Amino acid sequence: MRQSAWVLTHVFYDLELRVKISVIGAGYVGLVTGACLAEIGHEVVCTDNDPAKLKILESGGVPIYEPGLDKLLAKARKKNLIRYCSNTAEAVAAGDAIFICVGTPPLPDGATDLSAIDHVARTIATEARSPKLVVEKSTVPARTGQELKRALSVYGRKSSVTFRVASNPEFLREGTAIEDFLHPDRIVVGVEDDTAEAQLREIYRPVLERKFNCPVHSPACPEAPAPAWLVTTINSAELIKHASNSFLALKISYANMVADLAERLGADIEEVMKAVGMDPRIGKHFLNAGLGFGGFCLPKDLQAFVHLAKSSGADFTMLEEAEKINRKRIERFVEKIRKAVWVLRDKQLGVLGLAFKPNTDDIRFAPAMDLVRSLLAEGARVRAYDPEAMEKARTVVPQIEYAKSAYEAAQDSEALLIATEWEEFRKLDWERIRDAMAHPLILDGRNFLSPQKMRELGFEYHCFGRPD
Ligand code: UGA
Repeated sequence: MRQSAWVLTHVFYDLELRVKISVIGAGYVGLVTGACLAEIGHEVVCTDNDPAKLKILESGGVPIYEPGLDKLLAKARKKNLIRYCSNTAEAVAAGDAIFICVGTPPLPDGATDLSAIDHVARTIATEARSPKLVVEKSTVPARTGQELKRALSVYGRKSSVTFRVASNPEFLREGTAIEDFLHPDRIVVGVEDDTAEAQLREIYRPVLERKFNCPVHSPACPEAPAPAWLVTTINSAELIKHASNSFLALKISYANMVADLAERLGADIEEVMKAVGMDPRIGKHFLNAGLGFGGFCLPKDLQAFVHLAKSSGADFTMLEEAEKINRKRIERFVEKIRKAVWVLRDKQLGVLGLAFKPNTDDIRFAPAMDLVRSLLAEGARVRAYDPEAMEKARTVVPQIEYAKSAYEAAQDSEALLIATEWEEFRKLDWERIRDAMAHPLILDGRNFLSPQKMRELGFEYHCFGRPD
């Protein structure tokens, strides 16, 4: 009965089944979630504890680079479906459902820092005056939902507000986050009762029924199958997120180990993994060998999962090995550079790519940034170029030169290192690059270019797991 009452309120409140949603945390996850929830017709209020971020958003800007996000936010604003608010209490009051999208960074021992979640829980508990569905979107270790529920009841004991907690992990990839939100393969909802499930189903109905005009217009859109709707316990939903990201990390480390072996045995990792990935039980994705995985999710989630396993008495050394293999990728690459260039001190090296992967300006835990730091430690002179990440990179590594183009990065360099596989690098005028370099040497940390083509163009070319 209660379930239909919640749903009916919204049916009659607004014939478009619009739900009032608060999004707490305007980072990558929060902004994409807020923009997409508004895109599918809901009324969103976004808040963040960083006033600078809100100021940018209020003036029509976007504090992060995510393809398509600027357009989506502008559209939502025009339709009055999104607004920003610095007062968390006001944001809490505005939503019937509250999506928690605050950061859950790693602590020095690998555990997850949940202080932001705790802070939000206390604010919700003390400020809410009407029933709230509190949805964990941030990646959190299993059992966080229980703690959240407890915090809401402890701090909210003076009011008689009903809180329902749910876990709705995101599977958004930076760079394609909007498409991932609107065309997910699965939507996981960890809930404590049918009411919470019905509320979340109402929110996601347009995505489930594909009832919206897709703003992304990818060729896959019209054919994309409707997502699976998976209802689980809150603990399982939380575990699903960590288990998914850790499995992806395992796949990459496995491919990197096979690449090292292929190199020793004279096989070609690209041929090997293409065939391996054709087995549907394995799948073709996340088998690219190279500098390894980075970003703010895979490395920290892997660590958090290891920590969670250890603290629950389970042995997950397998994941620790995956992490170790990943950490060694930069070392392996620097060895290759040393082998090709010899002494690195005072050598001019060009680096293409600084972001942790293409189509993002995110440099957090980026293998490319670790590479640059290692080269600096060896005394090399580095000139780097990235289409989007240089502004951020400059603030953390100011001691290198930042080039205006890939050509400028290559100019007079003894070697050109590919650290992030931006598609635009494929279309460079490689003859021009060859002629600009002091020595036409490419070390491809992402197995991105065609060895045959590069060698035909007169480059000395090295990569991972393919015969030299
Ligand atoms: C990852 C997951 O893919 C998302 O599903 C998840 O929602 C997100 O984390 C999160 O937890 O929020 P993301 O961090 O955007 O998404 O990055 P990925 O696309 O997973 O790439 C991670 C890293 O792996 C990158 O550094 C990439 O270069 C590297 N990678 C990827 C490889 O080295 N080899 C591969 O074959 C694939």
